[in-house]
Amino acid sequence: MTDKAGSEPGVQVEETRRGGFTSRRVFILAAIGSAVGLGNIWRFPYVAYENGGGAFILPYLVALLTAGIPFLLLDYGLGHRFRGSAPLSFARARKRSEALGWWQVLICFFIAVYYAAVLAWAVRYTFFSVNKAWGDDPETFFFEDFLHAGDPGVAMEFTPGVLVPLLVVWGALIVIMALGVQRGIGAVAMVFIPILVIAFLALVVQALLLPGAGGGLNALFTPDWAALLEPGVWAAAFGQIFFSLSIGFGIMITYASYVKRKTDMTGSAMVVGFSNSGFELLAGIGVFAALGFMAQASGVAVGEVASDGIGLAFVAFPAIISEAPAGAVLGVLFFGSLVIAGLTSLISVIEVVISGVRDKFELSRITATLAVAIPTALISLVLFATTSGLYVLDIVDHFINRFGILAVAVVSMLVLAWGVRLLPELARHLNHHGSITLGRAWRVLVGVVAPLALLYVLIRQLVTDISAPYEDYPAWMLATFGWGVVVGVVVLAALASLAPWKSRTKMELTEEEVR
Ligand code: ALA
Repeated sequence: MTDKAGSEPGVQVEETRRGGFTSRRVFILAAIGSAVGLGNIWRFPYVAYENGGGAFILPYLVALLTAGIPFLLLDYGLGHRFRGSAPLSFARARKRSEALGWWQVLICFFIAVYYAAVLAWAVRYTFFSVNKAWGDDPETFFFEDFLHAGDPGVAMEFTPGVLVPLLVVWGALIVIMALGVQRGIGAVAMVFIPILVIAFLALVVQALLLPGAGGGLNALFTPDWAALLEPGVWAAAFGQIFFSLSIGFGIMITYASYVKRKTDMTGSAMVVGFSNSGFELLAGIGVFAALGFMAQASGVAVGEVASDGIGLAFVAFPAIISEAPAGAVLGVLFFGSLVIAGLTSLISVIEVVISGVRDKFELSRITATLAVAIPTALISLVLFATTSGLYVLDIVDHFINRFGILAVAVVSMLVLAWGVRLLPELARHLNHHGSITLGRAWRVLVGVVAPLALLYVLIRQLVTDISAPYEDYPAWMLATFGWGVVVGVVVLAALASLAPWKSRTKMELTEEEVR
């Protein structure tokens, strides 16, 4: 394998045949677009509130600095050094580690399938906000009138209210992905990330001006220092960081492979890591200011109105929008932000699958996009535009997040650090292309500290889910969409890694790739 990195000063590669970002700025915006998503807006505020409030900042920062950013650097190193999708980068690093790349691709496939559904709901709710279509009872409206959710189970009855926006989401996604890395992914990030920041800042200002906002912020930020003695609080911080930073599922490997050789990758990791956390903090302020208003308006404690995920976005927020002055504006800003943040993350998730398939079978961009997106869209439509969508989504999300991503992250770190001993090579590469020097501390964090912390989180979660069925769903549903998916992706990944590459020279970096 040749690596002439840095040996050809002055060579500027614009779009290579694989495609690529034309500048570091576009790459950083795309990476921030990937990181900032549903995890920031609807998960972080409640995780922080539940786990010590203001005191949570400590475990969160520890998780970010000891696991999040070190792992982000690992992803950047792999993608930038080996210039491939997740499977190709792992295979080029050491052929026997290829299955790890496919494991990440398959996790992305399942995330894409349900993430698109949430996006479709948010698209619909952006319009609902204008006339507060949910009426006096947002909860009944969401579950019964909008989703037509019956008892947990699988029923193949289509819900037109979800089907149409879901078709729109997939249609838009296919066009963006077919346009390619710079003209599709990069262009969307350049246009929409600034819009997202402006819209979200406007939302936060509006929320802060609501009566009762201070009560919400007090509830969120009042530190409960005793919480720091609870291992569960630390586990929550490490669990949050991985999904939120888009690490451990191939995204950052793939995006880094599209960056020119002479790019400061370590500096970029800091910018992306801290921007993501900054947005998370902003979301906490906006969401809890609004919840404080709701609590005051209904004369209850903030804890009674606070929730996360689906309950926060599609039940609590509609109620706030109905009550608040200029509620329609608040609604459009909130759901519009969810749509933009979700879209730029979904793009990155599906890109992992498209680039993996494209590299393995040497397909054109458009063929690979259609080959991946059409079947994924069909599965997404069948599972989530039907009356059973809600439950399947909840289960897949829970299991992929709590087990899939963390498991592949732990195994990847252990294999790269101890199995194939790649960390010194990656550190050398990153140091050659970075403004921050990675020393022995990085290798200790990636090889020892982060895997041990994540193993602990995983074991805790495993004990919880084995001792009590998640949300009391029927065992067959948990076995199929939960455990089945988590185990299935590992088996399929092993099989995919056995399939031969179309050309044997694929393991070599081309002249174009080393420039
Ligand atoms: N990082 C993305 C999110 O937070 C996937 O939603």
